[in-house]
Amino acid sequence: MHLLITGASGFIGQALCQHWQGQHQLTLVSREPAAHRRPGKGRQPHFVKLSQLQDLTPFDGIVNLAGEPILGRRWSQAQKQRIGQSRWQITARLVDLLSRSQPKPRVWLNASAVGYYGWHGGEALDETRGTIAPGFTHDICARWEELAQEASQWGARVCLLRLGMVLGRQGGALAGMLPAYRLGLGATLGAGQQIYSWIALPDLLRALDFLLKHDECQGAYNLTSPQPISQADFSRQLAQALGRPHWLHLPAGLLSLLLGERASLLLKGQRVLPSRLQAAGFAFDYPSLDQALPALLR
Ligand SMILES: NC(=O)c1ccc[n+]([C@@H]2O[C@H](COP(=O)([O-])OP(=O)(O)OC[C@H]3O[C@@H](n4cnc5c(N)ncnc54)[C@H](OP(=O)(O)O)[C@@H]3O)[C@@H](O)[C@H]2O)c1
Repeated sequence: MHLLITGASGFIGQALCQHWQGQHQLTLVSREPAAHRRPGKGRQPHFVKLSQLQDLTPFDGIVNLAGEPILGRRWSQAQKQRIGQSRWQITARLVDLLSRSQPKPRVWLNASAVGYYGWHGGEALDETRGTIAPGFTHDICARWEELAQEASQWGARVCLLRLGMVLGRQGGALAGMLPAYRLGLGATLGAGQQIYSWIALPDLLRALDFLLKHDECQGAYNLTSPQPISQADFSRQLAQALGRPHWLHLPAGLLSLLLGERASLLLKGQRVLPSRLQAAGFAFDYPSLDQALPALLR
């Protein structure tokens, strides 16, 4: 298939491009295509700017991952706008390009996040069960999903990817934690009872393959392992997998002081289950963290 991928230079995008290299023809969207030229004369990834595209006619499928990092900067009102608009504008632009395409791409995989459900205690949430708690992360994801879903009016099969914390050594949350944990500075954060819904990067890549290939799949999918875990257990298991001690505790107040409202990403959570993905026949290679960590850290 010929696939267009936005956010291709990011943590998930890079891993996906590597995974699909040789299997699919890839056109990659970046705000700065020239920044991704590889040194030497070898084959270059095909990066373009979104503004260079007149329509989406050449593509069989779209994978839309782009957006301002969530944790990167303090959540001022301006930064919250940037987080939302960076996702919404690209998605709306892609749908506009889709409307002008003939023929049109058949499939559209659009990133979203478990933040769609808002912050919860231990209540199990899947795509059909559970309440949605209002708030910033829900607002971002709900609008993002709504815009992407418009592609279905033009005949595309839209899958909304409610991603949990993606664990890979190359980037994202795990890569951010590793330096501290390697120094023996892994910590319980606040009460430690907040639930983290996570997915191992190799399972995510296989799940994206699955959704791309299964024509019957459409709508929202939780891309999370079937075994979410409390922050305290996550932290203990990570320290143990690295052979490091685990004794530190960071009080919630200190984290809030350091990170502002962003601390909610660490101090709150939600127990999200991948019910629709499993019902569709997808099997996880790494359902539990104690299976995933040794493979990810190898
Ligand atoms: N990683 C996770 O655990 C996780 C969990 C839940 C949801 N997600 C969502 O999945 C998507 C991919 O995640 P990721 O971890 O791969 O993200 P990432 O590493 O931060 O990469 C996102 C990409 O989006 C582009 N981008 C950044 N800021 C932008 C802006 N202001 N406007 C337009 N484009 C911008 C960048 O590409 P260029 O600089 O080349 O333009 C960047 O490579 C994100 O939207 C994220 O919110 C990720």
